[in-house]
Amino acid sequence: MPPTLDTHFARSAFPAFSVPALENRPFFENAGGSYACSTVIDRLERFYREHKVQPFGPFPTSAEAGRLMDEGRARLAALLNVSEEELSIGPSTSQNTYVLSCALARDLRPGDEIIVTNQDHEANSGCWRRLAEHGAVVHEWKIDPQTGLLDIAGLETLLGPRTRLVAFPHCSNIVGQFNDVARICGLVHDAGALAVVDGVSCAPHGLPDIAATGADVYLFSTYKTYGPHQGIMVVRRKLLERLPNQGHWFNKSHPDKRLVPAGPDHAQVAALAGIADYWDMLHAHHFGETETPAPQKSRNVTALFRAHERRLMEPLLEFLANHGEARLIGTATPEERAPTIALDTRRHPAEVAQDLAELGIMAGAGDFYAVRTLQALGIDPERGVLRLSFVHYTTEEEIDQLIAALDTAL
Ligand SMILES: Cc1ncc(COP(=O)(O)O)c(C=O)c1O
Repeated sequence: MPPTLDTHFARSAFPAFSVPALENRPFFENAGGSYACSTVIDRLERFYREHKVQPFGPFPTSAEAGRLMDEGRARLAALLNVSEEELSIGPSTSQNTYVLSCALARDLRPGDEIIVTNQDHEANSGCWRRLAEHGAVVHEWKIDPQTGLLDIAGLETLLGPRTRLVAFPHCSNIVGQFNDVARICGLVHDAGALAVVDGVSCAPHGLPDIAATGADVYLFSTYKTYGPHQGIMVVRRKLLERLPNQGHWFNKSHPDKRLVPAGPDHAQVAALAGIADYWDMLHAHHFGETETPAPQKSRNVTALFRAHERRLMEPLLEFLANHGEARLIGTATPEERAPTIALDTRRHPAEVAQDLAELGIMAGAGDFYAVRTLQALGIDPERGVLRLSFVHYTTEEEIDQLIAALDTAL
């Protein structure tokens, strides 16, 4: 029998659960940013207290600051099953896609085709659509307006000999369904194009084995994976080597600097190692102290998270599936989705969120920067949706509290 997640243990790693203002307030806005774990906070604080100097210099504190940053990169890369050089660490996913699109624009010829979806957060959409200004022909892979899902057959009709790039989400922050990323990347590569995958809504539910996804570019944001406020962009080596440098000219031989013109946030890069510390803690607690390689460790932790989240989704989705006051966006099958659950409510979503807040539930309402997705679903983005998002540290009791509060607020 595989172990089940010990939520009590997991929660003990999050100082937020002991903050009086947050106590007994079930948190259902995790998709906007998760709580940070203590291993991350400790590293961040220690860096600011003890190593806040220009890193990689000759004096001991500077060398140590550089070593801590290298550790952050190396340990996160290992969990993602890619090499450190393939990690571009920027201030956010939105900025990372923007810089990447500037790099790719230089390679485009008039008539080259780009495929985007209307299921994406704007971060993986607008920057690609703007390449039309460089002569690209932009096609939209559209969701089903009822289900919100992307159909592979729809992509197949758009792929062609001029397709250069397909940008799509591993999981939408509104629809919540896991897209079959490996299959989609396979089709994209068969057409000779690049696959750019937004994993922001997927990574909090288990860090991906990026090598296994087949993506040429995979992005996520660590402020949603219990870490510091950074954007991780993995660009596979073959592509990275041929992209024009976007950083300072004299840094062009440094793979980690080529797509990060902002320059690194030293302390936060170092604090990324705290995510790996947390994964190590979880793994040791549930599977024992083993010499398990990092990618396998990550798969084991993902399995723990997903099983727990599926169990918790069951009663909530059952409650919501046929609710007269709200339309559930995406599937009611827990196996197929992340616990990022958007509702098109009969009452104004902002009012429902306000009532939930008064009942002690922290949730959000709005368009969540997925304006195109809402429009495609026939929902006025100005009105938006109510979104209930949880992660592995959420408990059954909190789900019960949420259902009871929804019963009143919807
Ligand atoms: C699915 C998805 N993609 C991209 C982003 C943008 O991430 P960032 O805030 O790091 O730019 C978000 C942010 O909420 C998101 O939910």
